[in-house]
Amino acid sequence: MRLGRAVVVAVGLLGCGGAELDSVEALDSVGQEIVGGVEARPNSHPWIVSLQMGESHFCGGSLVRIGAREESNIVITAAHCVADGLPDTVVAGAHDLTRPTSSQVRVRVKRAVSHPNYDPETTMNDIAVLQLQTPIKFGASMAGGCGQSPQMRPNLTPQLASGFAIGPVCLPAAGEQVPDNTMATSAGWGLTREGGYDTSDILMQVGVPTVNSKQLAQMYAPQGISIDPKAMLGAGYAQGGKDSCQGDSGGPLVIKGARGYTLQGITSFGIGCARPGLPGVYARVSNYIPWINQQIKTYGQ
Ligand code: ARG
Repeated sequence: MRLGRAVVVAVGLLGCGGAELDSVEALDSVGQEIVGGVEARPNSHPWIVSLQMGESHFCGGSLVRIGAREESNIVITAAHCVADGLPDTVVAGAHDLTRPTSSQVRVRVKRAVSHPNYDPETTMNDIAVLQLQTPIKFGASMAGGCGQSPQMRPNLTPQLASGFAIGPVCLPAAGEQVPDNTMATSAGWGLTREGGYDTSDILMQVGVPTVNSKQLAQMYAPQGISIDPKAMLGAGYAQGGKDSCQGDSGGPLVIKGARGYTLQGITSFGIGCARPGLPGVYARVSNYIPWINQQIKTYGQ
């Protein structure tokens, strides 16, 4: 899918203030997909949605549960994804955005609520909630649960996606701490071609370990970027090679928990993509649970 350069640059700028400005130039020289990842099994990230303007993908998001309801009109994304205006629509149940299947649902966006303390200069509190015009129904197999994906890679026994195409991700407990070096999965339809401006039509995913907060801060300090460990979570390899990238923003970083896959991070920013010593930075979801619950209560229908 073709994105205008202006759109991509705007998203990059919003993503990181000055930092991502530098990386706009780096866009031309660094691989730009979910870097070093693999194609996701279709519908193995049942909570992921594509945020679109004029039918063009520009950011990701995640469906969350409203109490015990089996449908939801609430999507969590990054504040920088909506700083420029409301997305027209979100698409759920998708895999190849150019080949809609019967599981794919397109719903209009009614409202975006960014965190009141989102700071575009520092990318602090890069989280927003979307209220959709109408709720999206979960697959039958989701009943009561969250984060259900029997077939997400790298599971060895893929199962049929039936009844699992769309469902909510689990939210972490308030203040829940993610241990360092925990394997997490980032997914999205981010840009695909070095030097190009194409988002991926196909949903990609990549496994990245969480990074110690002090080390993350030390890695970004020389770049003039301050990391707030309460609000941000790093994930990536010291040697680089695997990362999320432009267009993946707002999408999920999940870690398998007791109940199911849990939204521990929201793709927020980086410098370039998959560079050694510069892990991807994600908004730390466990820091925002009371705020998220308040939005769900107010805007969930
Ligand atoms: N700000 C980017 C976006 O708007 C996401 C960048 C993630 N970068 C990274 N190296 N992990 O899509």
